[in-house]
Amino acid sequence: MAKDVGILAMEIYFPPTCVQQEALEAHDGVSKGKYTIGLGQGCLAFCTEVEDVVSMSLTAVTTLLEKYGIDPKQIGRLEVGSETVIDKSKSIKTFLMPIFEASGNTDIEGVDSTNACYGGTAALFNCVNWVESSSWDGRNGLVVCTDSAVYAEGPARPTGGAAAIAMLIGPDAPVVFESKFRGSHMSHAYDFYKPNLASEYPVVDGKLSQTCYLMALDSCYKHFCHKFEKLEAKQFSISDAAYFVFHSPYNKLVQKSFARLVFNDYLRNASSVDELSKEKLAPFSSLSGDESYSSRDLEKVSQQVAKPLYDEKVQPTTLIPKQVGNMYTASLYAACASLIHNKHTTLGGKRVILFSYGSGLAATMFSLRFRDGQNPFSLSNMAAVMDVEKKLKSRHEFPPEKFVETMKLMEHRYGAKDFVTSKDCSLLSPGTYYLTEVDSMYRRFYAKKTKDSSCDKSLAGH
Ligand SMILES: CC(C)(COP(=O)(O)OP(=O)(O)OC[C@H]1O[C@@H](n2cnc3c(N)ncnc32)[C@H](O)[C@@H]1OP(=O)(O)O)[C@@H](O)C(=O)NCCC(=O)NCCS
Repeated sequence: MAKDVGILAMEIYFPPTCVQQEALEAHDGVSKGKYTIGLGQGCLAFCTEVEDVVSMSLTAVTTLLEKYGIDPKQIGRLEVGSETVIDKSKSIKTFLMPIFEASGNTDIEGVDSTNACYGGTAALFNCVNWVESSSWDGRNGLVVCTDSAVYAEGPARPTGGAAAIAMLIGPDAPVVFESKFRGSHMSHAYDFYKPNLASEYPVVDGKLSQTCYLMALDSCYKHFCHKFEKLEAKQFSISDAAYFVFHSPYNKLVQKSFARLVFNDYLRNASSVDELSKEKLAPFSSLSGDESYSSRDLEKVSQQVAKPLYDEKVQPTTLIPKQVGNMYTASLYAACASLIHNKHTTLGGKRVILFSYGSGLAATMFSLRFRDGQNPFSLSNMAAVMDVEKKLKSRHEFPPEKFVETMKLMEHRYGAKDFVTSKDCSLLSPGTYYLTEVDSMYRRFYAKKTKDSSCDKSLAGH
């Protein structure tokens, strides 16, 4: 039986093209501060016509394998989580197979998992469960979360983003799953869904999705605490974890979510809530569940009470989601990557609780424990490989007009065939894959920008 199964290595890719939320506020004619303070977002990354979920995953996987010196033959399972549909049958996983076929490895289990932003977590659980199971063949698993989050013009558009994350899964990992501690909540809701197959945009009931998210959070926390308490014979509270990582459609919801956990701890009479906070929360103790989701006063007071703990336990996880935007399946793991980026020198031995939410809806709260690990599979090497600061700094800011223009072109291209892209990879870093063509049979072709900064014409991914 494999021990200490978890994340051995991690790489993140997000497009180098972005738009500042402040500029978007002015362009959209909304009040100043609505996107930056109201939603808590700084910047939004987006794919131009040369990038998509496949090219981003090709980039994330190849750079992970290269930077950690992993032999593609050592991968026995590859799982992809995504909600960005480019083909109703062919999995994104199969687009990644040429990387492995080149070294003669086609013996790789796994396909794609989809349920809004939860698909990445389903893929991750599949991989971890495989390594912990009797069908494990001793090789490592690889999980890819990849999405381009785009919305029609309107209030949801500033909550877009794009990224791909690749995670190597195996034993003796520096990020270990505490697999027994999990609480899930699965239910039927129409809060966000994509019924129109001719469009990349979702149908979204923004307010309902916030309530569904918070209800799922409460339910997962209840189940999580129950399981923890049964196994450990002591009460769980937010004091039992050093950090909390949330799926982040936009930062304001993360602030509200953590405050909700503090309120839950108050209702459970947990030791994490001090006397002064108890006094402040007391007027809300008799609210019904439904009333509590709509109480603006509770929201305000609980966020105020939670603020010092938020700064300590959540703020270090927010960098990439604030600067890149919602990355759907990759969003939670980008928050986890932010934590590793910010705190890798002090994370050893600490527990972190993650909350994964996918509209529709599927949600799980689960627990990870950090170990320093040994190179190349160490927390410090993970931070060095991801090099988040450099990736953020080397981006190109587009004016909002150019962003809107790109969205229009992408609407036109979605589901289309028989076109070649501009093949302009001048903004991409060497080693980045890009889309060159979709032929008359909808087959997609990709190329890789070479190290000498020229655009390589050799086709990959097909
Ligand atoms: C989230 C969403 C509903 C917000 O759109 P909206 O209804 O136009 O926005 P609101 O009017 O509620 O404003 C958003 C916030 O900014 C605040 N705000 C508005 N103008 C502001 C300003 N000038 N300065 C500071 N804050 C401001 C609002 O008070 C509100 O804060 P609150 O949530 O604490 O009440 C919309 O972006 C959306 O649908 N997003 C996609 C759905 C999603 O991601 N759901 C998450 C679950 S997965």
